[in-house]
Amino acid sequence: MADKKYYITTPLYYVNAKPHIGHAYTNILCDTFARFRRYLGEDVFFMTGTDEHGTKIEKAARDQNMEPKKYVDEMVPHFKDLWEQLGIQYDYFIRTTDEDHKETVRKVLEDLGARGELYKDNYQGWYSVKSETFYAKAELVDGKCPDTGGEVQEIVEENYFFRMSKYQDWLMDYIRKNPDFIQPEIRRNEILGFLKQPLQDLCITRPKERLSWGIPYPSSPEHVIYVWFDALINYVSGVGYKRNEDQFSRYWPADVHVVGKDIVRHHAVYWPIMLKACGVQMPHKVLAHGWWTLAGAKVSKSSGNIVDPIELIRKYGVDAFRYFLLREVTIGYDGAYSEDLLRQRYTSDLANDLGNLWFRVASMLAKYFGAVVPHADTLESEGLIRETYALWEKVREPMMAYDPRSALEAIWAVITSANQYVEENKPWVLAKDPKSKERLALVLATLTECVAHVAVLLVPFLPKTAQSMLAGLKLSSDGVMNADKFSRPLLRKGTQVERGDALFPRMEVEA
Ligand code: MSP
Repeated sequence: MADKKYYITTPLYYVNAKPHIGHAYTNILCDTFARFRRYLGEDVFFMTGTDEHGTKIEKAARDQNMEPKKYVDEMVPHFKDLWEQLGIQYDYFIRTTDEDHKETVRKVLEDLGARGELYKDNYQGWYSVKSETFYAKAELVDGKCPDTGGEVQEIVEENYFFRMSKYQDWLMDYIRKNPDFIQPEIRRNEILGFLKQPLQDLCITRPKERLSWGIPYPSSPEHVIYVWFDALINYVSGVGYKRNEDQFSRYWPADVHVVGKDIVRHHAVYWPIMLKACGVQMPHKVLAHGWWTLAGAKVSKSSGNIVDPIELIRKYGVDAFRYFLLREVTIGYDGAYSEDLLRQRYTSDLANDLGNLWFRVASMLAKYFGAVVPHADTLESEGLIRETYALWEKVREPMMAYDPRSALEAIWAVITSANQYVEENKPWVLAKDPKSKERLALVLATLTECVAHVAVLLVPFLPKTAQSMLAGLKLSSDGVMNADKFSRPLLRKGTQVERGDALFPRMEVEA
């Protein structure tokens, strides 16, 4: 087993609707990071899953006249199916309704109780019957429900609380001393700003008569556990906390929790304090990405402005969708989604730059050398080869800093150089002059090596395309990649290259 482990998580998605572009984005990011780390030879554990308890889900099930358990069982395959179509190579899929998870949640609560971290008290709030949600006074809009505009009633009920407030100073200090804990900076500052106001204790139960779809509170059958408290624990229960100590000590602390910017507070305030109270180490990083928006509004199931990934995969192919999401925005920023932008990326970056390069190189090899890569002793005299060999570090560095966009930009810079190299060297002119045979061999050997290196580096980003290129080059992406292996020729002598079908066929304009 590799010495270095790498544990990466996605949020657990609510199953009250099918997954959309926002959910696909997080899983594509995590998959790209996980695949890159596997390339580095790390022992990767990549976990995703579903958040299945709470009011939202209970209501969605009731709207369909279904039992919650039956409802969630029917929704989960939509997520698994999308991950399969997107080529998401996760190691474990966790559901908060799994018995293992529920067991860990109960044990965590028993432990926190024994440590004196929980107490029972009255909880006061404003309840909206329409949205079936509790609000604090500050959340109301003109004294009405902020979501539906409906009437609210003041309700007092007995609940259990977690002593979160006493860890406020500790957390501020921790965040200050660990500048990389919350990334990007803007979210870190937001959390530090939030922590300037007094932190309240967290109400961690709901009375069963108001919400029955949840994990029962261990010492009180009249209560169920608040859905966020249950869900956050997945990050440790998924690696065996309080059940499989070997697995837990192997993978915990998580290297990174990738989340959307709307749930940073849960991950960078509640979660670290829960862990601290249990005496468990902090995760290394909470990485927050921005939102995909449509006409200026967040793409979301509740507002109904959905962008359906399945439809886009069908139209443009999985890798065009992955490429667009990874390349279009810098992680942390919002991205305005439009199909026009996706189509532009498809045509210019994928079909013209990458697809065309592959097509030209493979076609010229076929035409001038019977598809066999010619031998050339002086590869390294070519500027393009030096640029190609230097690419590993230009991709590794941003990938370690969680910046896949810059990594792709570096790869595309080499693809652009390679296309220019074709134009400058004009192999079709060289081919006409028998005295230029050697030069022609060098030019095509250079180009084929360049394409091979690019294919290897594309595996984490565009796995399907990279695999077709590698298959055509008779190369495999198995095994560990590093700077040393990357700065040498990759192709075996006498390789017969197969061009195969176009990587990105021209689109018959389908608006
Ligand atoms: N169930 C909670 C998370 C619990 S984690 C222990 C939840 N679920 S969610 O389904 O509502 O959202 C899951 C993730 O999807 C969040 O990180 C959220 O930011 C992300 N996205 C939802 N809509 C999004 C966009 N339009 N764009 C990008 N990501 C967005 O919150």
